[in-house]
Amino acid sequence: MSPATPDPRAPRRCVVTGAAGFIGSHLVDRLLDAGHAVVGVDSFTDYYPRAIKERNLAAARGRPGFTFVEADLRTCDIAPLIDGADTVFHLAAMAGLLQSWSAFDAYLSCNVLATQRLLDAARQARPGHLVHVSTSSVYGLDSTGAEDRPREPMSPYGVTKLAAEHLVFAYARNFDLPVTVLRYFSIYGPRQRPDMGYTIFIDRVLRGAPITIHGDGRQTRGNTYVDDCVDATLAAMAHGPTGDVFNVGGGDVISAIDALRLIESITGRAADVVFGPSRPGEQREALADTSKARRVLGWSPRVGIEAGLRRQVAWQAAAQAAA
Ligand SMILES: NC(=O)c1ccc[n+]([C@@H]2O[C@H](COP(=O)([O-])OP(=O)(O)OC[C@H]3O[C@@H](n4cnc5c(N)ncnc54)[C@H](O)[C@@H]3O)[C@@H](O)[C@H]2O)c1
Repeated sequence: MSPATPDPRAPRRCVVTGAAGFIGSHLVDRLLDAGHAVVGVDSFTDYYPRAIKERNLAAARGRPGFTFVEADLRTCDIAPLIDGADTVFHLAAMAGLLQSWSAFDAYLSCNVLATQRLLDAARQARPGHLVHVSTSSVYGLDSTGAEDRPREPMSPYGVTKLAAEHLVFAYARNFDLPVTVLRYFSIYGPRQRPDMGYTIFIDRVLRGAPITIHGDGRQTRGNTYVDDCVDATLAAMAHGPTGDVFNVGGGDVISAIDALRLIESITGRAADVVFGPSRPGEQREALADTSKARRVLGWSPRVGIEAGLRRQVAWQAAAQAAA
């Protein structure tokens, strides 16, 4: 390896925003496992209970190399947090599209203003690489195809996340910031957010409670197991800045109703299903074309939907038993 090429396995100083969240906490654990130093930042928004986020963080707290900073990116002084960082992973956001119809102020400030403040701080602090996390929701109702398909977000959430992407590239181009944008597609697995479909399906099947499927149940997702999502994010770090955007999604496509059938077969319990009206802004089809991430980042998803759901069911069953 030439002296100009950084060793991708060398320990790095990383910052993870949204470190107490579902995906951010997995990323923190994996960075620590690999020997990197991590500063985790999170404000514990009230989108879901703080106790769940504290549980997400429990594995990392106290580990050598981990520092946690409770701070709100909308108001805090960000430059000192990212000063000297090799890689900043920006995951902090108001996620989930349903609440974005009623809590737009929070989506606007956490997803757009906080991202702009982070980028402004990056102009001063000059981190080695800013990996910004975006979403398939920037595409709209049918999120299939490659990264250059039209971006027609159908929810306030998607609009704020697309605005954040535009800000990232505006700052990158004007101020020569080293960036990569990842568009995640429907992530699932242990610690999945409590408002997400599989968490609700599994919880209700295990408790014998009724489940509402919105729409006809044939809406499909190319779900991404959280370890695969973190692998892609680590591959982006190892590759280094691209100035480009990548879809990150799993290979298996499955409808809501078929996912529920799979959960029934894994748990050995029957679901009590009722059908309700479809919800505004919800994607009809989402399957990532991940050719670019495979080609450029050398990444591909490894965990199939049945294996991934088995792990989520086992984790939720254990969490329910411990509660
Ligand atoms: N979960 C998915 O399926 C999915 C799919 C596509 C994209 N994403 C993106 O991935 C990222 C992480 O999503 P998640 O599912 O882990 O959500 P999450 O809600 O579990 O995690 C987000 C974290 O960010 C924190 N946060 C929000 N605003 C903040 C602020 N102003 N200052 C500091 N911290 C703040 C929250 O407290 C939370 O802990 C988000 O950017 C989301 O848009 C998620």
